[in-house]
Amino acid sequence: MRKRSRTAAGQGRTSEVAALIGHPVSHSLSPAIFSFLSRRFSRKIQYDALDISPGELKRALGLLRSLDFIGCNITIPYKEKVIACLDRVSDETRVIGAANVVYNKDGELIGYNSDVLGILETLREARVRISGREVVLYGAGGAARAVAYAMGVLGAKDVWITNRTPHRARALTKKFGSYFSKTRYHVLAWESFPLGRQIDLWVNATPLGMAGFPRSRTFSFIPGKNAFALDLIYRPEETPFLKKASAEGLKTIGGLDMLVWQAIGTWELWFGKMSGKHETKVALKKFLKQRLRRIDRCT
Ligand SMILES: NC(=O)c1ccc[n+]([C@@H]2O[C@H](COP(=O)([O-])OP(=O)(O)OC[C@H]3O[C@@H](n4cnc5c(N)ncnc54)[C@H](OP(=O)(O)O)[C@@H]3O)[C@@H](O)[C@H]2O)c1
Repeated sequence: MRKRSRTAAGQGRTSEVAALIGHPVSHSLSPAIFSFLSRRFSRKIQYDALDISPGELKRALGLLRSLDFIGCNITIPYKEKVIACLDRVSDETRVIGAANVVYNKDGELIGYNSDVLGILETLREARVRISGREVVLYGAGGAARAVAYAMGVLGAKDVWITNRTPHRARALTKKFGSYFSKTRYHVLAWESFPLGRQIDLWVNATPLGMAGFPRSRTFSFIPGKNAFALDLIYRPEETPFLKKASAEGLKTIGGLDMLVWQAIGTWELWFGKMSGKHETKVALKKFLKQRLRRIDRCT
């Protein structure tokens, strides 16, 4: 394997090595995304989806390191476990406690959480104002923690967290409350509302409404034409959460934007600044929409 030139990233070798690590990995869109981006930017990337069994994570990273890989994406169930195998992690990764991207910086493996970037870019693009505002967040898992972090970065006033398992929501409020001084994090019972508050953003960070996932619970909203609803789910495109929010007069944002923005963030982390970012975002979203429709037709 040739040595990678770190200057004009990628020069000096025939192809970059990157991968997805998870278990299972067959459902992931990451190989399609990076194949799209490598075609668009005429960059040869050998991107493999590696289905790694529990206990083999460290060895898999060691193997990739020996191949002088540029980085990898991490998916379920290794987003938390991978941290112990890395040399260093970014601030957001440390606070969230989960990494979904690894960058091999001259032999040093650094963990990042690109979900945060995906959320920040999605809200920026949709012109959602968060500073000093009120947010209701469904879920307290990995993606919800990325949302909670993004809300702290943007200076939300109050974040109301509602989760099936309340003690996980409580742990989240404690951790994030001590990290972000401007934002207050609270626990809220499922489908109840903080009295007398006007909610500006509602976020679903649970798999409820995802294609093939049992619909065991529903969502409620305070109607409001200036409020937004963001569902992190991208399949189906129009989820029950978004349908109900729309019926209540809220503006809606699906999970595909976040997926695309976090992929672009990963690309920039590995290869440097992307030219024509907005056009690439639009093109990648269109490509993924078509792909998801094809998957739907075949299932
Ligand atoms: N668009 C994107 O780029 C993107 C990125 C990341 C994630 N996501 C999506 O975000 C969602 C959450 O992912 P995650 O990584 O955070 O998963 P996770 O860490 O497993 O957390 C799942 C969360 O959903 C809750 N939940 C699970 N099943 C439930 C049920 N039947 N009823 C009520 N609550 C339930 C869990 O509650 P408990 O604490 O009670 O278990 C937990 O809060 C998934 O749909 C994922 O596809 C999208």
